[in-house]
Amino acid sequence: MPVPIIIDCDPGHDDALAIMLAAADPAVDLLAITTVAGNQTLDKTTLNARRVCTLAGITGVPIAAGCDRPLVQPLAVADDVHGVSGLDGPRFAEPTVDTVDEHAVDLIHRILLAHPEPVTLVPTAPLTNIALLLTRYPDSASRIREIVLMGGSTGRGNRTPAAEFNICTDPEAADIVFRSGVPLTMCGLNVTHQALATPEIRARFEGLGTEIGLVCAELLAYFASTYQRLWGMPHPPLHDPVAVARVIDPTLVGVVDANVTVELHGRYTRGATVVDLHQYVGRPVNARVATTLDAERFWDRMVTAVATLGGRTA
Ligand code: RIB
Ligand code: CA
Repeated sequence: MPVPIIIDCDPGHDDALAIMLAAADPAVDLLAITTVAGNQTLDKTTLNARRVCTLAGITGVPIAAGCDRPLVQPLAVADDVHGVSGLDGPRFAEPTVDTVDEHAVDLIHRILLAHPEPVTLVPTAPLTNIALLLTRYPDSASRIREIVLMGGSTGRGNRTPAAEFNICTDPEAADIVFRSGVPLTMCGLNVTHQALATPEIRARFEGLGTEIGLVCAELLAYFASTYQRLWGMPHPPLHDPVAVARVIDPTLVGVVDANVTVELHGRYTRGATVVDLHQYVGRPVNARVATTLDAERFWDRMVTAVATLGGRTA
């Protein structure tokens, strides 16, 4: 039986492919897409979610906009990474898929209570919507099967040397989520950097010979230019689909139990995920932390999903 999921995202190049994977792979049932401010402002991340769904022919999946700013600190977008539109690179047709007239947090809550079984939440963005859900609707926690998020890192950050973007953008929200007691898996930079979109991977998308395959290749080419310019990395890590892949087939992503604590007060480390991989400091285990990725099977699943959306068999 497919696992029911809701993806909470800030498209964002890697969010775009995460939406495609979640919509196309038969192992999951995408119940809704919710958006939040992060990579770009809420209006832009929401427009981009509509663009991706239009391109991919994803219909019947409600899209709802959520929070337009972090809980406490001001929003600082990643236009240096994702561009002014948040999805720079390819051109997108005018979206034909619209949003629903409901706040993301209310939509998630309504689905959680109505769905016959607990739902997995897959946040690939700052955790503002998820923190607000857990705070505004405490009864939602028991209806969540698991939170499988892209964010944090067992090592260095990318927004600061210590903090990863999704956590760093809204540390208070992340702290609420990691302290919530809801079963949680963290897919951080340490594992997503094993999902490198090499030119050979880009060629596989181009080789599909479909519009969506070409757009994915163009998204990855833009992402590659960013990572080369900002961090001297020749191949960009495709972060967000790794979280979806963990839900699709847990054998793709290896995890270990750990305590994860979000640093809120460090002058230079605010937003860091402090991961005790060996239960050394005695804080209780509150997360599964992803450490390994079967990259070959991950990319096979990713390319097959895009091929399916484009009406082809990979
Ligand atoms: O650090 C990577 C994360 O930040 C990804 O989710 C990317 O889309 C950005 O939101
Ligand atoms: Ca994202």
